[in-house]
Amino acid sequence: METKSKQILETALQEIKIAQNKQELFALNTKYLGKTGEISFLMRELKDVPVQDKPKFGAILNECRQKIDEAIREKTKYFEEEELNKKLMEEKVDVTIPIKDLKLGTMHPISLTQKELMEFFVKRGFTVRVGTDVETDYYCFEALNVPKDHPARDMQDTFYITDDIVLRTHTSATQIHTMEKYKPPIKMVSTGQAYRVDEDATHSPVFHQLEVLVVDENVSMADLKGTVEQFVKFLLGEKTKVRLRPSYFPFTEPSVEADASCPKCNGKGCALCKNSGWIEVLGCGMVHPKILEEHKIDPKIYSGYAIGVGIERLAMIRYGINDMRELFQNDTNLLKQFK
Ligand code: DAH
Repeated sequence: METKSKQILETALQEIKIAQNKQELFALNTKYLGKTGEISFLMRELKDVPVQDKPKFGAILNECRQKIDEAIREKTKYFEEEELNKKLMEEKVDVTIPIKDLKLGTMHPISLTQKELMEFFVKRGFTVRVGTDVETDYYCFEALNVPKDHPARDMQDTFYITDDIVLRTHTSATQIHTMEKYKPPIKMVSTGQAYRVDEDATHSPVFHQLEVLVVDENVSMADLKGTVEQFVKFLLGEKTKVRLRPSYFPFTEPSVEADASCPKCNGKGCALCKNSGWIEVLGCGMVHPKILEEHKIDPKIYSGYAIGVGIERLAMIRYGINDMRELFQNDTNLLKQFK
């Protein structure tokens, strides 16, 4: 039995060595180690061996089975690795081949305008604050001196989520969040989306604003005027003239609107400025003392100014876009002109 098992082992190892693939190895496994295989056959013959020799031959057969098993496993592993390498070679990507017609996106004119405006203020030491699109009635209206029955609410009709939760109608709500959290000196700028129930060539239900708030000792109307002038010139060119017109906002006193001389006709009058030579670009004013007081900022010591800018309108003026809705139509012919 010893010689027989040795012979089997030798031929098995030889056959494993010359096996060409996994299928052949599988067949060899059945041939030698399977239920009716050669080793199993010898195992069955053990019963005829004298009792005292059983452990010895048993051990020999086990060793033989183990060696065949190991050899088959090893060779199977070899074939599997070979298969994997072949697959990897086939799937190899040549990273040096030039890419065909790669279309890079461009920045949307609104994002571009937003980015440049934010940079103007950040470079002048303003801190960026982030607001939320969904606000409570308190932050959007009440805290900005617009109580429930105030007529100013009519101009800013919004989308109500509940009686108390609204989509913000302006970014001015960030002024309140800032004054709640920080003590003067405050110099903040914030930008984002705002929502109102109206839509025509110059209004969209979703639009973008930029909000500025400065609160410190000795902040005056002159500071506001200087900032607005610098800002409008930065946007529309050094030659642009700026004029301030009295206006009304419940959260500023006095309130003003700033007009820029029309960059298209240089103030002579054209379709863009509706023949007036001027275009309204922003609303601003000195922060209402009541709002400062409400946030425990003493109006006898501190004063502040606030500015609110409509981004779409500025983008339209800068890029000569006539209809605001074009900004939201995702027309790539329009969008790809902006870098
Ligand atoms: N929130 C105003 C609006 O959407 C714009 C505005 C006016 C903002 C005056 C201000 C401001 O900060 O001082 O119509």
